[in-house]
Amino acid sequence: MSSPQSQSRISSRVAAIAESATLAVDAKAKALKAAGEPVIGFGAGEPDFPTPAHIVEAAAAACRNPRNHKYTPAAGLPELREAIAAKTKRDSGYDVQAAQVLVTNGGKHAVYNTFATLLDPGDEVLLPAPYWTTYPEPIRLAGGVPVVLPTDEATGFRVGVEQLDAAVTDRTKALLFVSPSNPTGVVYPPGEVEAIGRWAVDRGIWVVTDEIYEHLTYGEHVFTSMPTVVPELAERCVVVNGVAKTYAMTGWRVGWMVAPRDVIKAAANLQSHTTSNVANVSQVAALAAVGGDLDATAEMRNAFERRGRTMHRLLSGIPDVHVLEPQGAFYAFPNLSAYLGRSIRGQVPGTTVELCEVLLDLAKVAPVPGEAFDAPGYARLSFALGDDDLGEGCRRIGDLLAEAH
Ligand SMILES: Cc1ncc(COP(=O)(O)O)c(C=O)c1O
Repeated sequence: MSSPQSQSRISSRVAAIAESATLAVDAKAKALKAAGEPVIGFGAGEPDFPTPAHIVEAAAAACRNPRNHKYTPAAGLPELREAIAAKTKRDSGYDVQAAQVLVTNGGKHAVYNTFATLLDPGDEVLLPAPYWTTYPEPIRLAGGVPVVLPTDEATGFRVGVEQLDAAVTDRTKALLFVSPSNPTGVVYPPGEVEAIGRWAVDRGIWVVTDEIYEHLTYGEHVFTSMPTVVPELAERCVVVNGVAKTYAMTGWRVGWMVAPRDVIKAAANLQSHTTSNVANVSQVAALAAVGGDLDATAEMRNAFERRGRTMHRLLSGIPDVHVLEPQGAFYAFPNLSAYLGRSIRGQVPGTTVELCEVLLDLAKVAPVPGEAFDAPGYARLSFALGDDDLGEGCRRIGDLLAEAH
């Protein structure tokens, strides 16, 4: 008979969760920097700009209004839900009502709520890799099963209908779709978004589409919101979004889900027993953000585009490093596998985890190893950092790898 002593202290469900590798790399780089090491961190998944002043001012005024010292409805301030519905129509052309919006504690929480609301134990979710390190965890916590679909440079890191179709079983409930993508920086062309949406409708499969990088696309690449090109998908579609990347508001923790009303009602019930509402002042800040113009966003986008091009030029100048030019988001995703098994100052990294450790120890630069995204052999480098650090960091990588033999 099991006694309390023989029970494990941590539930198996939670013990199985891996630490967020991206946050871990960022924390290690920041700690070394604080200790005086000249480390250049490429791990950050956040804009290096401050939140635009008019948003900060709205939040400061909100702090002084006692109304905002109270709870709001769990699903969010009614005027914010309205403004998010209006913003969704303005930015992607998707026509939705406020009752289809749930305000969450960041896009990450929207991902969590979505899978907790949609999945029963054993339900399968198609998850194209490389994928953002968070996605599998809320799927598993909900009892779901991530079904990983590998992609590489040869397919431009994109999945197609054939690959999706081959992975479908009678337990397939949903597809996780993200474009622009973290970590690859890839943007699906409109025709491919439409083909995938049509396929999902034909198969009766839900699409959870993460649109957090919608405003960060470069060159000829354009963002396409799947339910606008396939309107019949709306009945089985959850859009995840937030203010973090568009308005440099990662710390304010405001995101949202847009979904059919029954899904939003169920997810709001869940949220009413977990986090209740998002911090009232943060919601007022988000209202100023989504209700305002996109001028500051356009400025940041221009800076990211320039930096992405610079990073691409510097990385592709390193022998045997293959890297696609970033099409969106703020990440480059070079293939570093040619440097595995080679000696660098007496160290012979066999994996990209080990190679990134060598880069941190010897070159004082901190990319995130591809293993964090189920893509060993690659690394993710954020270009959401200042031009000088970006140039210097890429040069250090090139100089150290030049010693490999
Ligand atoms: C693809 C993707 N989705 C969602 C998020 C969540 O952002 P937040 O929770 O800060 O709103 C991130 C953040 O890194 C992301 O990269």
